Amino acid sequence: MAGRQEKKPGVGEQGEGFLLQAVELGVHRRLMLPSVSESSLAGAGWYAAQQMSTSSRMLGIDAGATLCKLALSCERPQTALIPSTHFDAVRQQIERWRPDRILATGGRAKQLGERVAGLEPRWVSEVDAWARGASVLARRQGLELPPRYVLVSLGTGTSVLEVRGDKGTRIGGTALGGGTLVGLGRMLLQAGSFQELTQLARRGDRRKVDLLVGDIYSDGRAPLPPQVTASNFGKLASTRDVDLAHALMGLLGENIALICSALARLHGLETVVFGGSTLNDNPTLEQTLELSTRALGQRPHFLGTAAFCGALGAAALGEV
Ligand SMILES: Nc1ncnc2c1ncn2[C@@H]1O[C@H](COP(=O)(O)OP(=O)(O)OP(=O)(O)O)[C@@H](O)[C@H]1O
Ligand SMILES: [Mg+2]
Repeated sequence: MAGRQEKKPGVGEQGEGFLLQAVELGVHRRLMLPSVSESSLAGAGWYAAQQMSTSSRMLGIDAGATLCKLALSCERPQTALIPSTHFDAVRQQIERWRPDRILATGGRAKQLGERVAGLEPRWVSEVDAWARGASVLARRQGLELPPRYVLVSLGTGTSVLEVRGDKGTRIGGTALGGGTLVGLGRMLLQAGSFQELTQLARRGDRRKVDLLVGDIYSDGRAPLPPQVTASNFGKLASTRDVDLAHALMGLLGENIALICSALARLHGLETVVFGGSTLNDNPTLEQTLELSTRALGQRPHFLGTAAFCGALGAAALGEV
């Protein structure tokens, strides 16, 4: 939820070749529930497994522009995150897990091929997978969502959905997204990985980089509170990598919050739920989204284990 700082399990360190981390749960399903932490990836998978027959091994795959997310729902739920450039590794992981069914979604899902591990994947709608995944994760978090809300997939790019019950409709989006962070981070900071960028941002202070309303109006007669950003990167009194990384998160968070809140208002919705791997272990971005969304009059919520919303939802859709 808002203000979470802890590392989200299941997202491994980037760098060495590709990233692959499977999280495995114990076998004692009943006994495991109370000990599963709020943000536990394994816990989220566990919850999804509750919705499903324990005899079938349902694999949900959300293959996006950057990352392929896999969620296996069964007695021992597991997840894996593999770069979308490594479909061989995705197929190998599926062979190892030997699911009974595969439900696939995301822009790169067709790259799986018509047949994998002896199965024909069933293609499911990305918006419906996300809508379903959000309700699975929200229930897991003990979060009660309204019948209609905005769901944001903060991926490589950003998609904004309206969810009604378990059904999703795309209502907008922006090309500002996790890909923007990684690209600008590489260019400005030579940050070699997403993790490096998030670590830098945690230690930065973007007030030295952004021009604030208070920097312009010194006589206290400003039309906006003095701490509001007047211009992202408009001051640049510091070029320290930590401050620039913090300012990048600010640029993204403030503008995504603005777009999502405007769309929410346009559609008469008050709750904005954020998910997507860009929020993995990224408290700086989460805090910016939280503050900006609240300031704009909407209620923000953050899905624990945000990366796996679509994959868990796809697996859950396999039950119907
Ligand atoms: N281990 C990682 N490696 C690379 N990027 C990561 C990693 N963890 C988080 N990210 C961030 O997550 C973003 C991708 O998010 P996500 O997996 O939700 O998107 P996607 O599904 O691949 O893309 P889209 O939905 O736009 O097709 C990256 O652009 C990056 O900012
Ligand atoms: Mg995606």
